[in-house]
Amino acid sequence: MPITDREFARQMDREDKLADYRDRFFVPRTDDGEETLYFCGNSLGLQPKSTGEYLEAELQKWAEKGVDGHFADSDPWYSYHELLSQPLSEVVGAKPLEVVAMNSLTTNLHLLMVSFYRPTSERFKIIIEGGAFPSDRYAVQSQARVHGFSPQEAIVEVTPRPGEDQLRTEDIVAAIEEEGDQLALVLFGGVNYYTGQLFDMETITAAGHKVGAKVGFDLAHAAGNVALNLHDWGPDFAAWCSYKYLNAGPGAVAGLFVHERHGTDGDIPRFAGWWGTDPETRFEMGPTFKPQPGAAGWQLSNAPVLSMAALRASLEIFSEATMDALCEKSRKLSGYLLELMNQLPERQFEIITPEEPDARGCQISILVPDGAEQLHERLQKIGVVCDYRRPDVIRLAPVPLYNTFDDVWQFWQVFAE
Ligand SMILES: Cc1ncc(COP(=O)(O)O)c(C=O)c1O
Repeated sequence: MPITDREFARQMDREDKLADYRDRFFVPRTDDGEETLYFCGNSLGLQPKSTGEYLEAELQKWAEKGVDGHFADSDPWYSYHELLSQPLSEVVGAKPLEVVAMNSLTTNLHLLMVSFYRPTSERFKIIIEGGAFPSDRYAVQSQARVHGFSPQEAIVEVTPRPGEDQLRTEDIVAAIEEEGDQLALVLFGGVNYYTGQLFDMETITAAGHKVGAKVGFDLAHAAGNVALNLHDWGPDFAAWCSYKYLNAGPGAVAGLFVHERHGTDGDIPRFAGWWGTDPETRFEMGPTFKPQPGAAGWQLSNAPVLSMAALRASLEIFSEATMDALCEKSRKLSGYLLELMNQLPERQFEIITPEEPDARGCQISILVPDGAEQLHERLQKIGVVCDYRRPDVIRLAPVPLYNTFDDVWQFWQVFAE
């Protein structure tokens, strides 16, 4: 059966072992009451239907017990963040001790740079990907300034070769080697927000460490989207948000990874707060900060339990479905979209996401040189939820937890028209 036949998509859905997960999410509807074609999980993931129950449980605890909820018999707030470590570690390929849910993404990047960007007059440069997300740029620029360096002298951007959309790993490694002794930090995205390119984090980590630099990743577009193996790849740190592929809701509590080899080093400089101390002795209210081991030692404040409850609802689904199975479906789903797009005869667009499955997650970025914004508006009007990023890209994320092959087929139909 030709892949352009809708029956092909429907057959793929019938064969999909993860198909039932869609029912566990609320799919937004159009004004006419029809389900939208929701492809915006790269920006805001859909709400699991169980989120309300998780929130309700904590609201109920608050209503019934007030302050005693901190030490309630079930899921006490005092240690609520610990409930997230195991499922989070599965998503990013780490040990539970290496991860913690806290703060927001940019805040965590700053806190991690306080510890791992320790420039000297000889070694002060930071390598980032060209076209990094603005918040990451502002963060590294401000870190350089705080240490007395101008962003112009301290920040090196690696860009694709002329005429190419994606960065070559060999060029990233070459840039790292070129900065050599001057390089203090490599801070790269796991998946670039604009092109959807997945970077070779293992190779980048090894190259950075070889020249004596620290290596960290912003996994905003990678966590919950691609297979990660942070512990074995060995970066010093990573941070991510939870409102995209992790479906924890707008502004949700973010996540952070610190490699085990740093986790017991109490001498690493850090910004400290009482939640980073040993929970057994915290209420002795002593004057000296002594960090607890692992990523949790980077916490500052007591945990935003309501936001964590929402994250828990979603992580439970991830644990059940497993990242392996999700990644397998994701490849098929996004591969199907690419194959369909390649069938279109008149190409007034260009796919700037790598076609090879190992070099991308589920996001496909479509560059429309003429009229991307207008096209996006028209798509929105007919119930396709995707996003537009200036100057000329439409991003589309078929998410394996809740998108179907038929969603992809329908999108392709309206796009072709
Ligand atoms: C790659 C990347 N970095 C940083 C951010 C900023 O995240 P936050 O507002 O949660 O700090 C985003 C937000 O979408 C992002 O995509």
